[in-house]
Amino acid sequence: NHFDLIIRGGTVATASDTFRADVGIRGGTITALGTQLGDADRIIDASGKLVLPGGIDAHCHLDQPRAKGLASGGALMADDFHSGSLSAVFGGTTTIIPFAVQHRGQSVVAAVEDYHRRANGKAYVDYGFHLIVSDPTPQVLQEELPALIADGYASVKVYMTYEAMRLSDRQILDVLDVNQRAGALTMIHAENYECIAWLTERLEAEGKTAPRFHEDSRPMVVEREATHRAITLSEVAEANLLIVHVSGKDAIEEIRRARTRGVKIFAETCPQYLFLSTRDLALPDFLGAKCMCSPPPRDPVNQAHVWQGVEDGLFDIFSSDHAPYRFDDSGKLMYGPKISFSKVANGIPGLETRAPLLFSEGVMTGRLDLNRFVALNSTNAAKLYGLHPQKGTIAVGADADIAIWDPERQVTITNAMLHHNVDYTPYEGRVLTGWPVTVLSRGQVICHEGELVGQAGHGRFLKRFRPAKGAKTWT
Ligand code: URP
Ligand code: ZN
Ligand code: ZN
Ligand code: ZN
Repeated sequence: NHFDLIIRGGTVATASDTFRADVGIRGGTITALGTQLGDADRIIDASGKLVLPGGIDAHCHLDQPRAKGLASGGALMADDFHSGSLSAVFGGTTTIIPFAVQHRGQSVVAAVEDYHRRANGKAYVDYGFHLIVSDPTPQVLQEELPALIADGYASVKVYMTYEAMRLSDRQILDVLDVNQRAGALTMIHAENYECIAWLTERLEAEGKTAPRFHEDSRPMVVEREATHRAITLSEVAEANLLIVHVSGKDAIEEIRRARTRGVKIFAETCPQYLFLSTRDLALPDFLGAKCMCSPPPRDPVNQAHVWQGVEDGLFDIFSSDHAPYRFDDSGKLMYGPKISFSKVANGIPGLETRAPLLFSEGVMTGRLDLNRFVALNSTNAAKLYGLHPQKGTIAVGADADIAIWDPERQVTITNAMLHHNVDYTPYEGRVLTGWPVTVLSRGQVICHEGELVGQAGHGRFLKRFRPAKGAKTWT
């Protein structure tokens, strides 16, 4: 019984159980859980620490090219697969699922090939791709999507807003239908495009262009309507749907009502809806732009509703929606510091801070038990996106993707300590309790006590398929 590595003396937690066990790893896989496992080339002492499945950040944007009419407004993304995956791993995340974006006029296959070129050889941890469809031509619906889904792309995002991305209701129905038949989960960005355009025009005509008006231009009702419509479309198409980045009460109520009538709807939220608010958007000197994402952070009442949804299981997925734009150069304010909110790149960085924020403010405050934290941080995403049980749990046969957390470590977040290529974090100065100190991907230590020991290029592409029937998720 010889192992490559044994993680000894820690407390292991999965989405269902917490127990004391040593973890034996051979050939990148967990091959034993127990005590007195035998000898190993290397022992990591985890006494006093938590041994958790590595995080899965199932919604992040990396190396998306510039284009007008997107959330970016044409700005350049600061993180590629190298810096993005590096940042992820230092925050305890060992799987990332960014997007391969189809631009109008482009084939989805060409988009996927492009993103493979961007990622290949660069990532520190394993990655998959969600597809984004912005141009559902007959060719895309009848040939490309079914073939790609069969080849390991088991999730497809569609947009109800953004000039260059949005689909009509009818197009969304088409994509829902193809996805359901072919075996992909549809993810939807639910905000009402026409309402946002109308409100933006009115605000700008009144000279209300500061970052704080971003929230007035896409208020909760606009998200509520789109959330309800998206759910309706999924009912009409009889297709599974996941609502991404849910920001507050009204959208949460639509999801609860849908589930009450028996509709299988999945939901995601993000740290920005728990930790940022309209107050941050109102910071002077355009600093509000640092917290500008869509949907926008809401008021404290909405924050409390999102917390409630995290605690009671309304939310399946907790991801960063990392969308990395620098503040000082050619990013957030690429059209100059006096531009209207409507020209500021949408999105904030968060790959590295996602899990530690939830751990500190969820687990250490007693709001979440450790098992629900693991579910939100990792297991649920593995199940919904076709990676379970290879990823998302600590079990014999699973990949040894493990984050060893020191639950007592106090960390003051500063941008200087983070590994992304963005020049700010919206969480600067926040003091957290608990941080991942050693992170492994397929049995390889990637970072240890703040030091990088892994290699770019270790990360592999992950094919993902529809969960098996009876997997207690969507099928
Ligand atoms: O503001 C955001 N969320 N930007 C990223 C793009 C998206 O819609 O997820
Ligand atoms: Zn979105
Ligand atoms: Zn996003
Ligand atoms: Zn490097």
